[in-house]
Amino acid sequence: MDKLSTIQQPVQREIESLNSTIRMALQTNSQLMNSVVDYYLGAKGKQIRPLLVLLSARLCAPVNEATVNAAAAIELLHNASLIHDDVVDESLQRRGRKTVNGIWDNRIAVLVGDYFVSCALKCAVKTGLISIVDTLGMLGQELAKGEIDQISNVEAHVIDESAYFEVIRQKTASLFVSCMQMGALSVGASEEVICKLMAFGEKLGLCFQIRDDIFDYFGDSAIGKPTGNDIREGKVTLPLLYALQHGKEEEVLQMKALLAKKILSVEEIETLTRFARNNGGIEYAVQVMEHLREEGYQVLSEFETSPVVDSLKQILDYTIERSK
Ligand code: IPE
Ligand code: IPE
Ligand code: MG
Ligand code: MG
Repeated sequence: MDKLSTIQQPVQREIESLNSTIRMALQTNSQLMNSVVDYYLGAKGKQIRPLLVLLSARLCAPVNEATVNAAAAIELLHNASLIHDDVVDESLQRRGRKTVNGIWDNRIAVLVGDYFVSCALKCAVKTGLISIVDTLGMLGQELAKGEIDQISNVEAHVIDESAYFEVIRQKTASLFVSCMQMGALSVGASEEVICKLMAFGEKLGLCFQIRDDIFDYFGDSAIGKPTGNDIREGKVTLPLLYALQHGKEEEVLQMKALLAKKILSVEEIETLTRFARNNGGIEYAVQVMEHLREEGYQVLSEFETSPVVDSLKQILDYTIERSK
């Protein structure tokens, strides 16, 4: 059993009820919608975000129906963002199979993504907690803003670490922050506890995206989605940012000239990824994650030790060390 399944085991029953909640939430009388949804649910993904909602709630009190609905809302919104992201990134593979835009087309993917957003909203409403609906609304705003800022940074050739962190905070870490917040809100946790859990979610979410960005520098098919895609789109992520700051001047100028091009060949993408790998980019990104891991542990040390706190710690470790 892999590490994530071991962490999931204590909440296996809740995960099953999450999956039936998600399936029910997506039911419709449209045949085409149903066939896309059925296809999409055929490969579930890691479901790390709903796991966090459940653990965050359980840290404070027993999980209730609102917790499961909040977890479903978050997972649906995450999936909506992936379906739309694959349109934006023109990506044809996810979770080891074809994307919705790959099998159908962009029109269908945009509409199915919209449908997932609406179902997410309905699940949030089912919690009966306006604070959870509000969190989901703000989260949707942040995700979209992160993705659009990323595009504007690419277009303006912004090569800057603080701009990178701001984008990943919005497009990825915000989801992890909201998972911790919604789980705790679903069981009426105190403001103080909610803040601590959210701080942990941010460290974890940043690590999650940094690890995902590292995958892009290696041709590994085990991750179930294309690699080299970020650079193909002109997205300069942490390893390349570091290499551009620390590489030899002449080579840096060559790499910047490549990045200024609208279309890159497979060989040019390989040249850029090799440059990042050969100039300490991966080691630097790992070092940043190690720093965040320490900060995450620090936040968790403010809670009494318990199996749930230990699971959160293990999720942080898994996120940093994972291979997909
Ligand atoms: C993919 O998230 C989007 C990123 C933030 C990199 P996951 O890797 O959690 O996707 P699934 O749900 O497990 O497929
Ligand atoms: C992830 O961005 C954040 C989203 C809003 C989906 P990526 O573009 O890196 O995600 P993947 O690599 O396609 O999963
Ligand atoms: Mg993408
Ligand atoms: Mg990615």
